[in-house]
Parts: sequence; C-alpha cells; structure tokens
Amino acid sequence: MKLLTAAQMQELDRRTIEEVGLPGVVLMENAGRGAVEALCGRFSSVWPGPVVVVAGKGNNGGDGYVVARDLLRRGWTVRTVILADRAAVKGDAAVHLGALLQSGGEVVFAPDAQALAAILSGMDLPRLVVDALFGTGLSSEVGGHYAEAIAWINRTGAKVVAVDIPSGIDAGSGRILGSAVCADLTVTFALAKVGHAVYPGAGCAGELVVLDIGIPRSLSDNVGDDHLLVEAPEAALLCPRRPAAGHKGTFGHLLVIAGETGKSGAAAMSAEAGLRSGAGLVTVACPAPVHAVLEIKLTEAMTVPLPAIDGALSLQALDQVRTLWVGKSAVAAGPGLGRSAETVALVRRLVAECPLPLLLDADALNAVSEVPDVLLERAPGTTVLTPHPGEMARLTGIDIQAIEADRLGVARDFACRYGVVLVLKGARTLIALPDGRIRINGSGNPGLASGGMGDVLTGLIGGLMAQGLSPANAAVLGTFLHGRAADRLSRIQGEAGLLATDLVRELPATRRELTL
Ligand code: ACO
Repeated sequence: MKLLTAAQMQELDRRTIEEVGLPGVVLMENAGRGAVEALCGRFSSVWPGPVVVVAGKGNNGGDGYVVARDLLRRGWTVRTVILADRAAVKGDAAVHLGALLQSGGEVVFAPDAQALAAILSGMDLPRLVVDALFGTGLSSEVGGHYAEAIAWINRTGAKVVAVDIPSGIDAGSGRILGSAVCADLTVTFALAKVGHAVYPGAGCAGELVVLDIGIPRSLSDNVGDDHLLVEAPEAALLCPRRPAAGHKGTFGHLLVIAGETGKSGAAAMSAEAGLRSGAGLVTVACPAPVHAVLEIKLTEAMTVPLPAIDGALSLQALDQVRTLWVGKSAVAAGPGLGRSAETVALVRRLVAECPLPLLLDADALNAVSEVPDVLLERAPGTTVLTPHPGEMARLTGIDIQAIEADRLGVARDFACRYGVVLVLKGARTLIALPDGRIRINGSGNPGLASGGMGDVLTGLIGGLMAQGLSPANAAVLGTFLHGRAADRLSRIQGEAGLLATDLVRELPATRRELTL
C-alpha cells in the first residue's frame, strides 16, 4: 500500500481542486462527514456524548467544524474548542465555521493558554473527543496552548478520534513533534500517510480507517512509490518462482560466516533459515572450535572450520574465506561472530573485497561501526545491513532514543550515504533503500522479541539473495516472511514463548500461503 507524505497529500488536494474542479469546501465536507460515519459506527455506545471537537485554524480544523455540525445534526451534544481567534480562521475552513455557527453549534475560541485553561476548567469531561487540531500541515514542534490541549485530550479518558492524523505526528516520518494525541481511531483520507505506519507515530493512530473523499483514482494512482507499506500483496509479487526443472544449483548457494564458541546456535539458525528460505545449498564457515558442534546440529547444511583464536575467527581465515565465496551466490555474515580484534579485521576485509551480495548482521555490524566508510568500497545496493536500534546507534553514533524518535530519517540518511539496503529492526521494521525509498514492513508482532530471531532473519534474507533476488527485494520479502511466520504461529500458540527455531520451521508454509 502506498503511503503519502504531507507534500504529496497537499498536491493531491491541490490537483483535485484546480484540475478536477472539486472545490476545497466539498472535499472538507466529504472528509468531515466520512469521519462522523466512521466514528458513529464504532462509538455509538457513547451517544449522545458529550463530545468536544478540538480544532485548529487550518483546513484540519475545517474538517473538524464539519464533524461538529454533522454530529449536532445526528443529535449528539457537541462543543467545539478552536485554538485561535475567530479572525484567524480563513478560506474553506471559515466557510464551514460559518455553517457550524449558523446551525446552532456551540463554539468557543481559545487563542492562548489562559483562555484555554478557563474553558477546560469549566467543562464536564467529554465521553468522546475529536482531534482536528493539526493534520498534515503541522510544520514544527508543538508548544504553548497547543501542547496543553493535546495533554488535556490524552488525560480525559474519553474515546479519541483523530481527523486525518493524530495532532503532533509528523505525517511524513512518524516523528512526534513535541507531544501527540493518542487516538483510538484515526480517519484519514485518500491514502494512509507515512506517519500512520512508522513508529512512534504508528503507536498513536489506533485503528486506521482510510476514506474516499472524491480525489480521483487517476490522481492517487499516479503518486510515487517512495513509501510503501509491505503487506501480503506487495510481498507476493517478490516471491521467486521455482522452475519445474530446477535443481539445487538453480536455487543458489548461501555462505554463512557465523558462530564463535558459545554462539553456535546463531550460526545454526541462520543456516537453517537459509535452507528454509528455499536456497539450494548452504555452507557455514565457522571458527574451528565450534565446527564439531555445528556438524551435529546441522544436517542439510555443509560446514567448514576456519582458523580461530580463543574460539573466534582469526585474520588467518581470510585466504580461506576468499576461496569459499567463489561459486557461492550470496554471503551472510555476523551472527554470533564475536568482537575480537582479529574477527573485526577479517570482517572489514570481507566487506571491502567480497564481490557477492553481502548481508551484515550483529557482530559484523559492530565490526564496521568504527569504519563505516568501508561500505563505500562496495557497489551501491549490494550490501544489506540488519541492525536493531542498539546496533544502529553504534553504526551512526546517534543515541538509541534519538534513533527511535526518528527511525525513518535515520535509516534513510544512512542508506543513502553509504549506498546500502538498511533494515532497521523493530515494530514496523523499516527497509531503507540506497535511492531514498522506504519500505515499511506490515507483518510481525511482539512474539519476535526473543533471542535468535535476528539470526533467522539473516539466513532468510541471505537465502533469498542466494536465489537471485536483488538485495533490496530480498530484504523486503525476507522481513515480511519473518513477521508473517510469527503472525501465523502466534494465532496458534500465542506470542509469548515463540522461539526462533519455531519460526524457521514455519517459513516454507508462510511462503507457500503468500503465493496461493
Ligand atoms: N504550532 C502552531 N501552529 C502550527 C504548527 C505548530 N507547530 N505547525 C503548523 N501550524 C499551523 C500552520 O501555520 C497553519 O496555520 P495557517 O493555515 O494559519 O498558516 C495550520 O497550523 C495548518 O494546520 P493543518 O490544518 O494541519 O494544515 P492544512 O491547512 O494544510 O490542512 C489538510 C491539512 C488539508 C486538512 C490535510 O490534513 C489533508 O489533506 N486532509 C485530508 C483531506 C482534506 O481534509 N481535505 C479538505 C480540505 S482541502 C482544502 O481545502 C485545501
């Protein structure tokens, strides 16, 4: 599903008004009425209110004035609080403010903190709040009486319906600009916005309903695919076909470099996920001391012992690694490799020299953290990095909180700067492509928060690359399958106690379901 930025939505509105000839007041009427329809269908139990519509002076406020008028018409008790002077409301919004007042709507103006405090303190707590303070026009941090209104909405305990996007969320990135409304229902128009899908904004939207307000398909279909929410239809398009006459050589050979002493499980899970992804062959290269363990753990995968020091790979392994990647289709490195100086040096040589599509995870990410410029030695788009926010913090020098506050911005900047496919893990994992496009994974649940899940993702994406998918498509499809397998399992056994090895076994059926 395509997601819009604020600029794209403004452009759709503009073209609908100027080229198609539908006036802004009509779009506003459709938006407000649609929002009322959606909220009445869900919150009929709180009829007849009281409802408070908290509105701004812009067009989002205009949608709110329509909501207030339509609720009034349906018999609800409604009061509208506008965080501006009456004179500040202009254009289409002013038309609907006039209509609301003419219809007998109760409207109060709170242009400053003092006025707002006086209004709110004299008001019974509402059972429903409609948030029409800011839509896509929010352009900076929310402060002053706007922030106080948002805090009040969140304190009321009422059901909260956001019009277009919860106020305080940056529509183009999902960032919270100071503070944000926490909604139970968000009614948006034409297409969902990026801020509805990317955390932390996604966590404020509640149920999301997308309504048609008359913007023609000919316009909305033409919007670029800069931001895509990846769900089953998008993922299915990426699934590689399996030729009937295929053999194991047809489906690629993945080289996994992983597993120091004590972390053999990480190597084993990556290898098994590579096989379950559909790769024809998987070879695991590991430090010699864990080789015997992997020989027992793994049946279908081949294993190669490499020179080691203190249980971890030594730089002496480099020549053998160079030989090993010959004839392989893709390399995945990192799970359980450890952070010894020699391993770090080896990984950096691998990054600089390996001509194959390369995935770096876990300790391989740590190895490049101090010298990310080594990534520039590779052709753009041939490297996939799969950091969680902690690893991303080490890669960028940005602290974890700041990364979580602007996941999309941080991921996109890194992917563009270093020419990599960056998979930033977490709720709604982001896949940032080197050309600046963003894919947002729509599958997965908190059951994925357990040890080894990252190792499985590594093998899965690596296995898909080995089957010939581009690193970008492998990252998108692998991330989706990973989350989808967890969704399937959690329906049967719940989220708690989901194991990475359970997930590995679920991968083939998950992939099959996608292509049925
Ligand atoms: N603090 C205080 N004020 C702020 C801040 C901030 N941090 N950030 C922005 N503002 C102000 C802006 O200055 C602006 O005020 P101004 O109009 O006086 O300059 C106001 O907030 C804009 O806020 P919004 O109402 O969010 O922005 P806009 O007027 O662009 O409306 C819109 C957004 C069109 C409603 C959008 O959310 C959308 O497309 N919704 C779906 C479609 C829709 O409803 N269309 C109907 C209207 S179309 C039309 O008439 C153009």
